[in-house]
Amino acid sequence: MSDILKSMRNYLKMEKESGVSEYLFSSKPKDAQLSLIKNEVLNCQKCPLGKMRKNIVFGAGDINAKLMFVGEAPGHEEDIRGLPFVGEAGMLLTKIIEAMGIKRADVYICNILKCRPPQNRNPLPEETSMCIDYLYAQIAMVKPKIICALGKFASQALLGTEISIGKLRGNWHEYRGIKFMPTYHPAYLLRNPSDKKLVWEDMKKIMNEL
Ligand code: URA
Repeated sequence: MSDILKSMRNYLKMEKESGVSEYLFSSKPKDAQLSLIKNEVLNCQKCPLGKMRKNIVFGAGDINAKLMFVGEAPGHEEDIRGLPFVGEAGMLLTKIIEAMGIKRADVYICNILKCRPPQNRNPLPEETSMCIDYLYAQIAMVKPKIICALGKFASQALLGTEISIGKLRGNWHEYRGIKFMPTYHPAYLLRNPSDKKLVWEDMKKIMNEL
């Protein structure tokens, strides 16, 4: 037994050195695994936002979706309903998805943070680093073909960069082998409607790829 453990330890050490950082071993179906992760989030008190939330906002949509949208954090409406992108920015996101010829129910939508920051302030780096493992696990489960990151925070956190969203958007990137398109956040578009055409350019690239 100790020989087996020793060789497993050596193997995992080798894997870690070559860049493997996590394993998700389970024979459970995808929906059961996602429910387990959601249960962890339901009990999560890793950061102070846990005490302030009305509801966690885990994610919604098709768990087998080819396209996943990742936003920043729940707002007021999302906190009340426990669903992502159901406020004003969410209505715009729904319009964008439908303009792409897709039903909202056929994509998967989630956020970097699962709890609402007070007054909808930006996520703090420590909140992002404490919460992002849940998102990594969601991505590993859903296995989308394409991730569309909405805004600076989702784009920078998943790409591990500080490059501005203005420079990142509109270009294909890669997140763990998954095609990754950063674009402007719908809340930004509500304030800057003239940039909607840029987002539409980005969505056309996604549609071509799909
Ligand atoms: N903004 C986000 O980034 N996510 C939501 O769920 C709602 C608004």
